[in-house]
Amino acid sequence: MRNFDENNITRAVLERLQNSTSPRTRQISEAVVRHLHALIQEIEPSQQEWLAAIEFLTATGQMCSDTRQEFILLSDTLGASMLVDAINHRHPGDATQTTVLGPFYVENAKQHALGDMISHDADGAPLLVEGSVAALDGTPIAGAVVDVWHSDSEGYYDVQRQDGLQHLSDRARFVTDSDGRFWFRSIVPAFYPIPNDGPVGKMLDAQGRHPYRPAHVHFMISAPGCDTLVTHLFLADDPYLDSDVVFGVKDALICKLEAQAAGITARGNAIAAATAALRYDFRLAPT
Ligand code: BEZ
Ligand code: FE
Repeated sequence: MRNFDENNITRAVLERLQNSTSPRTRQISEAVVRHLHALIQEIEPSQQEWLAAIEFLTATGQMCSDTRQEFILLSDTLGASMLVDAINHRHPGDATQTTVLGPFYVENAKQHALGDMISHDADGAPLLVEGSVAALDGTPIAGAVVDVWHSDSEGYYDVQRQDGLQHLSDRARFVTDSDGRFWFRSIVPAFYPIPNDGPVGKMLDAQGRHPYRPAHVHFMISAPGCDTLVTHLFLADDPYLDSDVVFGVKDALICKLEAQAAGITARGNAIAAATAALRYDFRLAPT
């Protein structure tokens, strides 16, 4: 077949996909071609605009490194990450709500003892985090692995600091006790702009959008027989809760910090000085 024009080229490309290596590859390839051609038909780009789009994607790839994932930022800021997350977590019942992983998770973070201080940030306001992990029926899950990470008091993650992965802070791994509980001390995280010195930052500027995420603490919680939970807890009263640049906020994940005096907390943990406290009970869905 030859002599392709704007009326027949979509059908011609779709016909070339018949020998795809699997039905799923064919289904996905067909959808990509149909939607890409529909986009082009809708916006009718000039040659310069199409080249600018290709240069934008090229720059996005070139910005990626061991500590920077510009394509994840692009997916996040276009709402694609939250859409994929929603499709993959249609859990019934009371399972804790999920949200985006983001680019600052580090595999195999240092395991800490319950109650440890995990921040080296001397300027941060003290924070106590007390949580528990249970199955949907409320049965406590002992031995669940709880990864936590959050921004510092200036809104930076450890991996964004000059020494990168050398000095991890505001990040740790815990294992729940025999009652499914965990607790640790840290500092109150700040809201922050996502990295916006690259192509995604330029895109946000062009779209008239700010780059901020409301303050939050990330959690990744895994246990045998359960779906790994990837979520955050957001701090109530943050100015960006309603305009999170990556669309990650859910009401059920917003927590009010409580005032905790020195002494023994209601959950039985000993605190040497007054602190703000963040408390949450997580429920994992079965696999
Ligand atoms: C984060 O919360 O760490 C994050 C999520 C998406 C994009 C950038 C950062
Ligand atoms: Fe974050």
